[in-house]
Amino acid sequence: MQFNDQADIYDERTGLGAKTAKNIALALEQMIKPYLAGQFLEIGAGTGEIGFYLQNLPIPYVGIDLSSGMLDVYRKRFKDLKSAPNLIETDGNKIWPLDHNSVSVFFSSRAMHQLDQQNVLNQLQNLSSTQGAILILGNVKRDKNSAKAIMRKEMHKVLNEFGLKEKSGQSNRNQLFEVIESQGGKRLKPVTASHWQVSHSPIESINSWKKVDGIAGQIIEPTIKQQILETLILRAEDKFSNINQVLETEESYQLNAITLPYN
Ligand SMILES: C[S@@+](CC[C@H](N)C(=O)[O-])C[C@H]1O[C@@H](n2cnc3c(N)ncnc32)[C@H](O)[C@@H]1O
Repeated sequence: MQFNDQADIYDERTGLGAKTAKNIALALEQMIKPYLAGQFLEIGAGTGEIGFYLQNLPIPYVGIDLSSGMLDVYRKRFKDLKSAPNLIETDGNKIWPLDHNSVSVFFSSRAMHQLDQQNVLNQLQNLSSTQGAILILGNVKRDKNSAKAIMRKEMHKVLNEFGLKEKSGQSNRNQLFEVIESQGGKRLKPVTASHWQVSHSPIESINSWKKVDGIAGQIIEPTIKQQILETLILRAEDKFSNINQVLETEESYQLNAITLPYN
């Protein structure tokens, strides 16, 4: 499984860092104040970079993830198994194994686009607390002219040319929120939980994609991956005068929330 293979290097490769994770927890603490009656469920909890700081929220926490490797890294953040949070290894595309009407906060960071939307809607409906529930999705926001954003856009185009589809976090969130809104959910104002400076060269994007098996969340033949990366180097050379040049930009972490209208 793709995330099992990259679990040990995930934080180093795409981690947010402790400062950002703490800021996200602080922002979440404010946002969830009216929703403390049930449990806090984190979907696609991963290595627990954020989850580690969610354990002191005034609401019981449960994390689910498909990858045992990612959850193992999560558990190692705690001094022993007893103090580790309730983490369940399960496929988010199946029934989420929690009690009916028991969740008041559903949170997912950089993971929801991996899941089947209809199943997500069914699970939200089944698990939402009768005392009110909220869905909060977190993601990194980049300047569209930054090296990382341009390289991702090129990756998207090249994947399409190779007949592969990439799931996009933003379009997935928009679609999901539109459906929930049509059912009566109310979007809240987005919250920027943290922002930071990034120094990144186009070649670093290529090197980072080289490090993991598969590409953009998909498992593919190594020879195809090699061809994709070679094409991307040519595209990068077209877009940038020097693909090794480090460019400075700002990134931020945004929380988008919608109230759930199911009870
Ligand atoms: C990009 S990582 C994000 C991890 C963490 N939330 C963060 O922001 O650092 C996506 C996570 O979603 C999990 N995931 C992917 N497909 C899943 C599925 N079908 N069910 C549950 N978790 C899944 C992966 O195992 C991985 O831990």
